[in-house]
Amino acid sequence: MVLAKAFVTLLAVASLTGARMMRKDEVRECQAEAVKKWQHGPGPAVFHESMKRSEVQNITFSNPKASEFWVNGSALPLVDFDVGPSWAGLLPISNSPNETRQLFFWFFPPGPEGTLDDLIFWTNGGPGCSSLEGLLQENGPLSWSWGQAKPTINEFSWTNLSSVLWVEQPVGTGFSQGTPNIENEDQLAEQLVGFMQQFLEVFSELKGKKLWLTGESYAGTYVPYIANYIYENPTLLDLSLQGIWISDPSLSWDVVQEEIPAVDFVNKYQGLFSFNQTFLGHLDKKAARCNYTNYVSTYVTYPPTGLLPLPGDSVEFAEGCDVWDDIFNNALIINPAFNVYRIWDTYPILWDVLGFPGSFPQKQSPIYFDRKEVKEAIHAPIDTEWAECSNVNVFPDGDNSLPPAFTVLPNVIEKSVRSVIVHGLADFILIAEGTRIVIQNMTWNGLQGFQTPISNDSFIVDGVGAYGNMHSERGLTYFEVVLSGHMIPQFAPVAAFQIMQYLMGFRDTP
Ligand SMILES: *[C@@H]1O[C@H](CO)[C@@H](O)[C@H](O)[C@H]1NC(C)=O
Ligand SMILES: *[C@@H]1O[C@H](CO)[C@@H](O)[C@H](O)[C@H]1NC(C)=O
Ligand SMILES: *[C@@H]1O[C@H](CO)[C@@H](O)[C@H](O)[C@H]1NC(C)=O
Ligand SMILES: *[C@@H]1O[C@H](CO)[C@@H](O)[C@H](O)[C@H]1NC(C)=O
Ligand SMILES: *[C@@H]1O[C@H](CO)[C@@H](O)[C@H](O)[C@H]1NC(C)=O
Ligand SMILES: *[C@@H]1O[C@H](CO)[C@@H](O)[C@H](O)[C@H]1NC(C)=O
Ligand SMILES: *[C@@H]1O[C@H](CO)[C@@H](O)[C@H](O)[C@H]1NC(C)=O
Ligand SMILES: *[C@@H]1O[C@H](CO)[C@@H](O)[C@H](O)[C@H]1NC(C)=O
Repeated sequence: MVLAKAFVTLLAVASLTGARMMRKDEVRECQAEAVKKWQHGPGPAVFHESMKRSEVQNITFSNPKASEFWVNGSALPLVDFDVGPSWAGLLPISNSPNETRQLFFWFFPPGPEGTLDDLIFWTNGGPGCSSLEGLLQENGPLSWSWGQAKPTINEFSWTNLSSVLWVEQPVGTGFSQGTPNIENEDQLAEQLVGFMQQFLEVFSELKGKKLWLTGESYAGTYVPYIANYIYENPTLLDLSLQGIWISDPSLSWDVVQEEIPAVDFVNKYQGLFSFNQTFLGHLDKKAARCNYTNYVSTYVTYPPTGLLPLPGDSVEFAEGCDVWDDIFNNALIINPAFNVYRIWDTYPILWDVLGFPGSFPQKQSPIYFDRKEVKEAIHAPIDTEWAECSNVNVFPDGDNSLPPAFTVLPNVIEKSVRSVIVHGLADFILIAEGTRIVIQNMTWNGLQGFQTPISNDSFIVDGVGAYGNMHSERGLTYFEVVLSGHMIPQFAPVAAFQIMQYLMGFRDTP
């Protein structure tokens, strides 16, 4: 009785001050409106004239072998819409008759507004993680992402831009066949280019197209090395390489991309981590002792004043200086669903039809690409067990290549029309502030780093507004994307689409 009276009084006060409780259906309506804006997808307004260069969107391949790879887009298991024609299967990495190594690919021609002049190549990272994750959960024509009960149409599919080729590479990844034997990134590039040669023999109508190499995470290492290999061996491939996209990329040492920026990251997102004061104090002390505190304000200047030093004697972490694992292990105490790929996930853990990442215990069973009927539909080897990230080591004795920022990346930027590096601001497995360190320590086109600072709120997405930060100098454009974890096309599809339009020259400004 007393309680009820208090409640009535409260309501009265609320209405007096003009506050109101939004009705549930009003909340729902507001959200439905907001979602509609995204589901509407990249309408004609954002398409550039040059994207409709040809009337024909139905690539037909004259080589009869191509038809063996044709996938019936209205017969994909558990998908209740037509994804259109596509081609998938295994092709060898050389024309040697005894070649045992084959890579699995899935190729989609452009949608109605895409151009026939281009070819986008996408690879996931790992090493050993499948590019079918990218296709199904990031930038493909269908989306079956974490927590989705069933697949939906991806209105921001990169097939709206041009043809897209997803490849499971290197050998040892996904459905790909053969025994991994590579020791470094040049060998990886050589095998991939060998595969591409075989691919172009079957799908020869794609010869001569403009090529865009794209990938995420450890593909931040693959893609620059593949691009460099193609630029340095220009006669190998009948494609015209134009530029690269690398998002949340492995470019440098762990200490740079994980350790130095980790405690600053926690402080920035304190409310999300919700660590207690004792632990925050412990982290601050450790960061100070390990030379992480003030590293960014001291050395990450625009322009840089010299080469940037390592904080200690290790490229991983000096003894007693692993703050990243400290943070991870303790975040899991407070939030068992803590997801290094997108830091604001909370309990319960979302189900995932691919079983990874961020949802380790909540696999949907069976895993989509491990279903027999799915394998049959896409010409995948039935007896190969598919896992999103391979249990086989794709570099049996490790990857001997140096990180690309110290080797090939400057050359690739210099030889490309455009290059983009993209980083999600809610990614903890690789941290955006670390990528800034990498860029400021790298010399390309005659100068070290960016010469002028990256302005806040400088990345403007059409129809949305400020969506993070952006900076462009000497052929390299760097984007930091708000509200995105590690997988940019999955978490920020609108932003990812616009960045690709910029990369491919379909818009003049980033
Ligand atoms: C695409 O090409 C194939 C083979 O030439 C043809 O059978 C089919 O009707 C075409 N589809 C469309 C939508 O034009
Ligand atoms: C594609 O699959 C649909 C649905 O199962 C089927 O009706 C159609 O005949 C198939 N098309 C071809 C060419 O096999
Ligand atoms: C295939 O045979 C050639 C010639 O005998 C040999 O040089 C090559 O190593 C073999 N390749 C594989 C993958 O076994
Ligand atoms: C973009 O791709 C999706 C998925 O294929 C498709 O539903 C949509 O119509 C496409 N949008 C445009 C403008 O081409
Ligand atoms: C910066 O580059 C120099 C020269 O390549 C290298 O020795 C140094 O370790 C790099 N610093 C960082 C923080 O990566
Ligand atoms: C921090 O930097 C100082 C000065 O360069 C160095 O002597 C010390 O060993 C570094 N601390 C650690 C933990 O690496
Ligand atoms: C504070 O957090 C640390 C690290 O998770 C934990 O060991 C400690 O027990 C916590 N203190 C309190 C009072 O909860
Ligand atoms: C830019 O934003 C960061 C936080 O994201 C803030 O720390 C910094 O002060 C801002 N810079 C300017 C120039 O406002």
